[in-house]
Amino acid sequence: MITILAIESSCDETSAAVLRDGKVLNNLIATQSVHERYGGVVPELASRAHQQHIVPVVNQAIQEANISKNEISAVAFTQGPGLLGSLLVGTAFAKAFALGLNVPLIGVNHMKAHILAHFIADTKPNFPFLCLTVSGGHTQIVLVRDYLDMEVIGQTQDDAVGEAFDKTAKMLGLPYPGGQYIDRYAKEGNPLAFGFPDVNTPDLNFSFSGIKTAVLYFLQKNTKENPNFIQENISDICASVQQTLVRILLKKVRKAAERYKIKEIAIAGGVSANSGLRKTLQDMALEKKWNVYVPDFQYCTDNAGMIAITAYYQYLANDFVGQDANPDPRLRIA
Ligand code: KG4
Ligand code: ZN
Repeated sequence: MITILAIESSCDETSAAVLRDGKVLNNLIATQSVHERYGGVVPELASRAHQQHIVPVVNQAIQEANISKNEISAVAFTQGPGLLGSLLVGTAFAKAFALGLNVPLIGVNHMKAHILAHFIADTKPNFPFLCLTVSGGHTQIVLVRDYLDMEVIGQTQDDAVGEAFDKTAKMLGLPYPGGQYIDRYAKEGNPLAFGFPDVNTPDLNFSFSGIKTAVLYFLQKNTKENPNFIQENISDICASVQQTLVRILLKKVRKAAERYKIKEIAIAGGVSANSGLRKTLQDMALEKKWNVYVPDFQYCTDNAGMIAITAYYQYLANDFVGQDANPDPRLRIA
């Protein structure tokens, strides 16, 4: 029997999960609300909050999974990418826990884990598949050949798409992180009300900083003419910006699918919770005869369940790290 305790602490969620024989038993997440008033994650505050949350979250995960500590076969933690101070808390905790139990340690790549979150569910993608990984820190198209064999074939050259959502939300006076609020307003708006230019980027790469600037100038110009412009048009603005971002993402997914002749398409990461992205992807899948995989909401944003499932495949492949393992804020997929 393989039982893995997994810890995720790369950004602002402290999460712990227990996995047994490839099945994620639970997935506890302590969200840090302290960042809301700053309109973004404050790294120093994130590390402190992880320090406060980690013991109770891990204890609760073990308790709720109904296992005893000496049944744990390995302890897994997010090694990177992420904020160094946040990663250090999870890494140090996992090392001490593994040392105390005398079990091996598994260092997990957070971006691979977002992708392997698809193997928690019963319906799993078939290899090889393409995964559009879209979060607050990353925008990548990944060619997934096997559980641990992945290649980034396209990525953003500047901002992540989650950042574009969050910065637009901030300009509209919405709370942080704002992606979910844009999504909510967009449902009531007309996506063709306002036009934002697509940015031409080479190959399968993306760029989102131009959109951010375009939205800023658009809002400045219109609020100058009508100070209530945002309040009066918020749904249409959200729908139009969202539609633009989704269009940019899926254009490159379509290109990648054609180039690699792959019809198994997955999305992952926080922005994969976006209903506009999900809907447009489903429509495109019908037209292109793709099989599309979208994770459960709880496994879209940062969570330890995805760390646990990745660690399980690493365990099977004998992929462990020693007590000298260090977190790597810039850890890459390959
Ligand atoms: O994967 P994640 O939880 O953390 C990172 O590793 O970055 O992704 C967080 C990002 C944020 O930018 C957040 O605004 C975005 O995911 N997000 C959404 C939605 N839910 C979360 N963006 C658009 N629509 C949503 N429904
Ligand atoms: Zn993430």
